[in-house]
Amino acid sequence: MDRSAFFEVHKDLPREGPGRPEDVAWALGAAGVKPGARVLDAGAGPGADIQALLLATAPGGHVTAVEAHAPFVEQAARRWGRDSRVTLVTGDMREAEGPFDVIWCAGALYFLGLREGLELMRGKLAPGGVLCFSELVFRVAEPATEVRAPLEAEYPAIGTVERLNGIVEAEGLGIVAQKMLPRASWEAYYRPLEAQVAQLRPGADAALAQVLDETEAEIALWREHNEAFGYALTVVRPR
Ligand SMILES: C[S@@+](CC[C@H](N)C(=O)[O-])C[C@H]1O[C@@H](n2cnc3c(N)ncnc32)[C@H](O)[C@@H]1O
Repeated sequence: MDRSAFFEVHKDLPREGPGRPEDVAWALGAAGVKPGARVLDAGAGPGADIQALLLATAPGGHVTAVEAHAPFVEQAARRWGRDSRVTLVTGDMREAEGPFDVIWCAGALYFLGLREGLELMRGKLAPGGVLCFSELVFRVAEPATEVRAPLEAEYPAIGTVERLNGIVEAEGLGIVAQKMLPRASWEAYYRPLEAQVAQLRPGADAALAQVLDETEAEIALWREHNEAFGYALTVVRPR
């Protein structure tokens, strides 16, 4: 995929993966996170979850948002650049220096590999801290080929929730809470993305047209088969 075309399609969107403020509130509520918590938003994208993370840790919460793609950080800086409760970092989440009471990692842990990501983030937690992460999973044991093939092409390590939970447990982490993200959380990501695709389509060159086609295919796959896959939002704590 042409990276510059990809980032043109993903420019200035409200968020870069499924999620809503309600999901943040649910996870941090389930974890019993206290006011004043030190939060790492790992792979923060344009910073869509910062507001909800601050709300859930007020008063006194602080969010360090780390994101590798500089234009996403610039987008976050337009809103949060002058807020002393937020530190924005352009860089690698692997290098974020803890300890943190909460690590929030929405749709980004898989970039590190699930096992590696869990181990690394675990090492950044303060005593009693929690890691909340969302991860693409199959919702059925044997998904149809038309679902399995495109998802495995994007994310070869995708498996069922049971497999995910097995990996979590094997890493010495206990599951505090878990839910599948509801359809509304996907729409919060896909609706603005669809609007962007429609806006960019006229006059798109070949590279851009290819990314637009792939984006439409991704959204269509979810609309037609969301009973077969989804994002598991999981809250874990070292045992
Ligand atoms: C699917 S997006 C989710 C973004 C955001 N959490 C959201 O929900 O809107 C994953 C993000 O992780 C970022 N990312 C991937 N690897 C990273 C790394 N090693 N360090 C920091 N950010 C990373 C990507 O640039 C991308 O913005």
